[in-house]
Amino acid sequence: MPFIEWDDKFSVNVKEIDDQHKGLFKVINDLNDAVYEGKAQDIIEVTVHKMIEYANVHFATEEKYMIKFNFTGYSEHKAEHDTFHMKALELNGRLKVGVYVLSSEIMRFLKDWLTNHILVTDKKYGPYFNENGLV
Ligand code: FEO
Repeated sequence: MPFIEWDDKFSVNVKEIDDQHKGLFKVINDLNDAVYEGKAQDIIEVTVHKMIEYANVHFATEEKYMIKFNFTGYSEHKAEHDTFHMKALELNGRLKVGVYVLSSEIMRFLKDWLTNHILVTDKKYGPYFNENGLV
């Protein structure tokens, strides 16, 4: 059973961005499944690499539109993105030197991200992007 299922409350009403957010849901659900199968440590490294890829691709997408449309919340929003990116790189750094990373730490971080960033911070640009013709 998935840890979290997509529904419309997560939508920012921009298909490209919703699709990228759904990709992060899959990362979380895959890790959650692995925890329940007792295989979390097998996919920790892949999970962290996916977080880095998500940060590179997805944040660049949102920031591109924020700049293009002169979104006033850009700086604060980007600061949150940078926090996620640094966390992912920090986790990767620990793995590279052989430090054990608990799946619960990643799950907690990603769950907080869904609740506090996607459902709050991302939601702020949705109507503004729509007004600028992005759907
Ligand atoms: Fe969808 Fe601002 O991250």
